[in-house]
Amino acid sequence: MTGLSLNGPIADEALPILPDAGIIVDNGNIHAIGSFEALRATHGGIQVHVLKGDHVCLPGLVDAHTHICFAGSRAKDYAMRNAGKSYLEIAKAGGGIWDTVTQTRKATQATLTSRTKKLATRHLKNGVTTLEVKSGYGLSIEEELKMLRAIKEADSLVAADLIPTCLAAHMLPKDYEGSATAYLGEMAEKLFPILQEEELTNRIDAFIEESAFSKKAIAPYFQKAKEMGFDITVHADQFSTSGSEVAVQFGAISADHLEASTDTEIALLAKSDVIATALPGASLGLGCNFTPARKLLDAGGALAIASDHNPGSAPMGDLLTQAAILGAFEKLSNAEVLAGITFRAAAALKLADRGKLKQGLLADFCAFHSDDYREILYSQGNFKPCMVWKNGELAFDKHSH
Ligand code: NIG
Ligand code: FE
Repeated sequence: MTGLSLNGPIADEALPILPDAGIIVDNGNIHAIGSFEALRATHGGIQVHVLKGDHVCLPGLVDAHTHICFAGSRAKDYAMRNAGKSYLEIAKAGGGIWDTVTQTRKATQATLTSRTKKLATRHLKNGVTTLEVKSGYGLSIEEELKMLRAIKEADSLVAADLIPTCLAAHMLPKDYEGSATAYLGEMAEKLFPILQEEELTNRIDAFIEESAFSKKAIAPYFQKAKEMGFDITVHADQFSTSGSEVAVQFGAISADHLEASTDTEIALLAKSDVIATALPGASLGLGCNFTPARKLLDAGGALAIASDHNPGSAPMGDLLTQAAILGAFEKLSNAEVLAGITFRAAAALKLADRGKLKQGLLADFCAFHSDDYREILYSQGNFKPCMVWKNGELAFDKHSH
């Protein structure tokens, strides 16, 4: 991924592939990368690990949007939706985000920690060495704190890095006695300072949608977040537009979803510094159209691809599979898909220390048993890495399982 640009299309021919390569790891970082023989000649006395047979080594994958901290299941929602029931019928039957909020509130912090750890470990085995995790199923000060404390604890228990995000603005909680503006005002005033005191997160997300929060209601919330120094990210244009406009207005790091984005939003995002994050897992989970990824790239946008792993709209939780499928439907090159789940995804989390196999960056990488990198996406996610390293340590080895 070295030398590739953050924005716009990438041809496969532009991938800087190093044959017969070696990587020198020192203290969790990539100290040098290049021809194995040349590195061996210039670096004596170091421990050498040779992979048997041909392997393709990629930067550790980055999943820039997940909701893997939750309790309960929404299998009933999924079955009802596929049986043709409407959003309203599902909500009336007790489904939707509020169902997961109810289940998550009942769970202890320890339960949430262990569930998050389990899912993060599964992602790690699939090559994901960094994943963002949102709160948003608590929706009260104490319950949002419980979720973010669980995420922080889970981060200390898995090799993968978990990047926490506060999504207290996921929906107006059904038990809140007051307006959306009052709820958001209370969260900004009382929750934001605790997030900073306890160092729980420096990222604030909001769901801008007719069923969640309007552009107008969210403005003072994001304003306050910005004043306090938080980074902003937005659930934007999932079913209706206006979220991407908010993202650009507030200088968000990323605008995620974008399934409903039209040429207007595409142009707006492409000329901004906001990373556009496609969530094919939500399209697959809901059975709806994909984010216009091709158009975003052709307009000069920066495209990340994330799993959105959550119990409602994206239950699969398999980044590589979903990215490969998006590539097939949106006509993305191998390079564009792989960029979307490595350095462009790292940029969506404002992390400059990962996402490329490059000197000085974290030694996060995964190896696939093949002599051709194109085999990876060709298998549409069924071909997983056989080994995964995080900070230079072997975190998963298929051969030992
Ligand atoms: O990213 N769009 C809103 N939030 C989630 C869905 C969460 C849920 O259904 O539980 C999403 O798709
Ligand atoms: Fe989401």
